[in-house]
Amino acid sequence: MNSRTVIIIFVLALAIIIGIAGIRGMKFSSPPLEIFSDMVRQNKSHPQTLISLPDGRKLAPVSGTIPFNRVEEKDSFNTGLITGTTNYVELIPLAVDKKLILRGKERYGVFCSHCHGLSGDGNTVARKTGTMSIVANLHEKRIAKMTDGEIFNVVTHGRNLMSSHSAIIPTSDRWAIIGYVRTLQISRLGTVDDIPAQERERLLHTETN
Ligand code: HEC
Repeated sequence: MNSRTVIIIFVLALAIIIGIAGIRGMKFSSPPLEIFSDMVRQNKSHPQTLISLPDGRKLAPVSGTIPFNRVEEKDSFNTGLITGTTNYVELIPLAVDKKLILRGKERYGVFCSHCHGLSGDGNTVARKTGTMSIVANLHEKRIAKMTDGEIFNVVTHGRNLMSSHSAIIPTSDRWAIIGYVRTLQISRLGTVDDIPAQERERLLHTETN
């Protein structure tokens, strides 16, 4: 056999193999013939997915963690929108009680205060040093007038220079933080008339020295 024949046989063999098996990564309308079974299609658990146990049960994500490819129900709690519309919900879609507000206060301290300040006025080191020179003052009238759903949208998806917090703050904590942002705002916007009559009496007659 001369070298010319060898090359022809080699090229033909290559063409036949590629013709049957295809090139790795090529798109086919039906599965390509696999000479050796392809490990891509083996039965295995992918990271960040729900793992099925042999008896069919699914291992739930560890509490307090946010699964990477989570599928969320499109309700007000997850979207901040009135279901089926593109309008923001007016109020937090959870029962707002002292526990939720205190949770929000703690989480606000962790996730928001370094930029917006513990009091929400945005006078932080981040602004003073120019790292974030246009941090919003959460007491601004425009922001105080936003619906709870819109603030949820800002925290969830970010806005302009502020980044999304959906991957680091679980949904219920995002609502809790909004509850606390509202208490910060009310602490400056409120008047004596907002205090229940009974409490007002007590406060007015408390010595403040
Ligand atoms: C890394 C800094 C940073 C962090 C952390 C941060 N923000 Fe912001 N936030 C900003 C900046 C900067 C803006 C102004 C965005 C703009 O208009 O460019 C802003 C704007 C806002 C606004 C107003 C949006 C508007 O339409 O004007 C709200 C409300 C808000 N932030 C709430 C929060 C809450 C609640 C948290 C905590 C979960 C938070 N932010 C965490 C930097 C931050």
